[in-house]
Amino acid sequence: MALRIGDTAPNFSIATTNGEINFHDWAKGKWTFFFSHPADYTPVCTTEMGRTSQLAAEFAARNCAPIGLSTDTVEAHLGWIEDVNVTQNTSLKFPIVADADKKIAALYNMIHPSESNTATVRSVFIIDPEMKIRLTMTYPMAVGRNFDEILRVLDALQTGDQHGIATPADWQPGDKVIIPPTVSNADAEKKFPQGFDEVKPYLRFVEVSK
Ligand code: BEZ
Repeated sequence: MALRIGDTAPNFSIATTNGEINFHDWAKGKWTFFFSHPADYTPVCTTEMGRTSQLAAEFAARNCAPIGLSTDTVEAHLGWIEDVNVTQNTSLKFPIVADADKKIAALYNMIHPSESNTATVRSVFIIDPEMKIRLTMTYPMAVGRNFDEILRVLDALQTGDQHGIATPADWQPGDKVIIPPTVSNADAEKKFPQGFDEVKPYLRFVEVSK
């Protein structure tokens, strides 16, 4: 069965470009951006790996560690990383899982047979420090992901956890957030002494700090 939001991210032990890892031990206490791509030495994937590496400081600022996966060997990954570094002008440091036998791809439902029987699609799992899956996203093979959106979702999840709020469409850090309908006006007044705007009884906006 496909993994769902709120599920515990399944654990695994595997070789990566940074050595053997036990996923839960590696990921514990931080947020994780776990993403698969179809194969090494492919063009879209090269740009995605490069972008993730270029954004290392942005992920670190959010206490989030990226980890990639494709169904190739550590040796293939290491050779490809040299190409990523040269073509994308970066120095890739995060681990890439070597899932040559597709065990982790199966565990995380990353192979969608109507797209390919052998290659993983572009799956994203954002996992919180307690190992809960907080976001899943699946992109087709021929469409590179939007990394601004990945950082924005991390910001939205972390702001939501911090303040018990929800975020509106196209929210960006600094924008007003939404008071969930489960919070009464009386409780909202206590929780948000800065005040809030009630557009409708179910649509209330408030400003919060990060
Ligand atoms: C790739 O670069 O990964 C890719 C490009 C086109 C189709 C499928 C995959």
